Amino acid sequence: YTEVHEIIVPHLGHIPIAKGDFHALPTKAKKFIAFYADYLKPRGIFICDGSNEEATEIIHKLEERGTLEQLEKYENCYVCRTDPADVARVESKTWICTKEKHKTVPRCHGDAKGGLGQWISPEDCQKELQSRFPGCMAGRMMYVIPFSMGPVGSPLSKIGIEITDSNYVLLCMRVMTRVTSKIWEVLGDGDFVKCIHSMGCPRPWRKKVVNHWPCNPERIFIAHFPEERKVKSFGSGYGGNSLLGKKCFALRIANAIARDEGWMAEHMLIMGITKPGGKEHYIAAAFPSACGKTNLAMLESTLPGWKVRCVGDDIAWMRFNEKGELRAINPEAGFFGVAPGTNWKTNPNAMASFQKNSIFTNVAKTDDGSYYWEGLEDEVEDKNIGITTWLGKRWKIGEEGKAAHPNARFCSPAAQCPIIHPKWEDPEGVPIDAILFGGRRPEGVPLVFESYGWNHGVLVGAACKSEATAAAEFHGKKIMHDPMAMRPFMGYNFGEYLDHWLQFGRQSGLKLPKIFHVNWFRTGADGHFLWPGFGDNIRVLDWVCKRVEDKDVAVESAIGYLPTKGSIDLSGIEDKVKWDELFSLPKDYWKSDIEETKAFLDREVGDDLPKEICEEIKKMQERINKM
Ligand code: GDP
Ligand code: PGA
Ligand code: MN
Ligand code: MN
Repeated sequence: YTEVHEIIVPHLGHIPIAKGDFHALPTKAKKFIAFYADYLKPRGIFICDGSNEEATEIIHKLEERGTLEQLEKYENCYVCRTDPADVARVESKTWICTKEKHKTVPRCHGDAKGGLGQWISPEDCQKELQSRFPGCMAGRMMYVIPFSMGPVGSPLSKIGIEITDSNYVLLCMRVMTRVTSKIWEVLGDGDFVKCIHSMGCPRPWRKKVVNHWPCNPERIFIAHFPEERKVKSFGSGYGGNSLLGKKCFALRIANAIARDEGWMAEHMLIMGITKPGGKEHYIAAAFPSACGKTNLAMLESTLPGWKVRCVGDDIAWMRFNEKGELRAINPEAGFFGVAPGTNWKTNPNAMASFQKNSIFTNVAKTDDGSYYWEGLEDEVEDKNIGITTWLGKRWKIGEEGKAAHPNARFCSPAAQCPIIHPKWEDPEGVPIDAILFGGRRPEGVPLVFESYGWNHGVLVGAACKSEATAAAEFHGKKIMHDPMAMRPFMGYNFGEYLDHWLQFGRQSGLKLPKIFHVNWFRTGADGHFLWPGFGDNIRVLDWVCKRVEDKDVAVESAIGYLPTKGSIDLSGIEDKVKWDELFSLPKDYWKSDIEETKAFLDREVGDDLPKEICEEIKKMQERINKM
């Protein structure tokens, strides 16, 4: 099937332009829109300008239809309930399409099952697309969303255009990215990332639409073309599958662009931390989905006098500048955060961020017009209030079942966060002093440790694992590998990705951040978390900052530097924290852990596993054997 380039502008006679001045757009944009209008056969074309009037118009339509319901207690806030079959990212239906297989996946030994990118050939991909996309917008409006990842016009930013038949996607994209008609001026003759999304329910649609949420879960197919800077997503309206600026573009496509251009696109929060009277340190942290990034990024310190400010909560684009500093920007403009567990105690800054202009997906609603989810029990005034669950059932606190889906999300503008960093839109980015890796590790893994250097740090990242969460389709709490928290978001061969990280260590003149591993989720014999977490995580960040300042507060261990006893400030929680249990290193656990990690990397990365990683594994094994 021929692509955009051959189409001459445009035979749009039969498809009305419902909004916008099509003919005033840059030529490449016109060709792109004309091609897909012809291919997808929508009933009209709606070119978005990003204005509030536009949003209000769409919101009213969605309220009439029943897709959105207003939360009367707040200003301009709405709840949306999806088809219960469309609630999370679907990794098994997410593909990377390149001509050569090993551009996408490593030359592994045997059958790779680690999910480090799924490759599909252009021929097979084309077949799948051809059986889905032609005419898939019949009877629906095609929204054209011009957006910028990163501040509009900044040299580090990248422009995308998303075509979608979902107005929910339009509303969320307006929050998560910068949608404005200024994009067309900045774009001019330039290239953009092409994002094509459809719910996959052309009219007449004979299947039942559940919750006024059209989708086509059996036919979900999400294809990425890193070489052509293009994404095609079919069948799901759920955030990670449909807000294509986010995971698809800012992680998978950008990840591949970054390799080519010498920078990094990572699944990381970015935060600034200032001690009373101290210098500000910036930290980037990669944890798998639903493992604490948003909470850490907005941490409210339990130690007095500390100032934490949020630069970003999910994605970091990072580049070494001419001074050798690693500079990071947040390409997003909003938060798409996990709702359950969020309350005024655990994350007051997130709570404050979504008091207005926000969209809640798969949360419950109280009869007095408020959102509700697990974790808000203590903060509801009337404990007996009637609640409508995410499934539309009548429910009360204390009754069986859950009010919200565990992957329910709030979508709110970053600018509304009370601790948003004044530099959050600085085109220069902020200088990263430390990188943290982490995950949900109930067993064996101490609260914090520091790697012995860059290469060891890259192994620590590559060895990341976590309990599965509700952010994707996996069920149960099995421990899964999630190297660099990037398993679902790799845009190219993971072995080459590791080498890309390692080559920064081979260059001279770069100020390499120190690399740490943290674990808020270790449990004791009774199954409870050993660490209070949330605001108390500042105590760990304090130690990290001390290490960044080269303070002598660490001892060597088999797995890396551990805090010397007492070097983490536990004032006020001494009686709650069992230091020895929190920092113990069970030899048997680590022996089998490193063997298992080695087997995983051998099997999944195979011939593409960089030799530095093999060396680091060997050193680690030797240290563990000596324990
Ligand atoms: P993200 O998806 O990585 O951004 O993770 P979130 O910050 O949204 O957190 C996901 C879930 O983990 C939420 O239910 C949080 O309440 C919970 N969580 C986050 N930080 C901590 C912590 O330090 N300790 C514990 N026990 N739970 C946490
Ligand atoms: P999260 O973002 O990392 O905040 O969970 C969504 C996702 O990764 O799917
Ligand atoms: Mn994420
Ligand atoms: Mn998050």
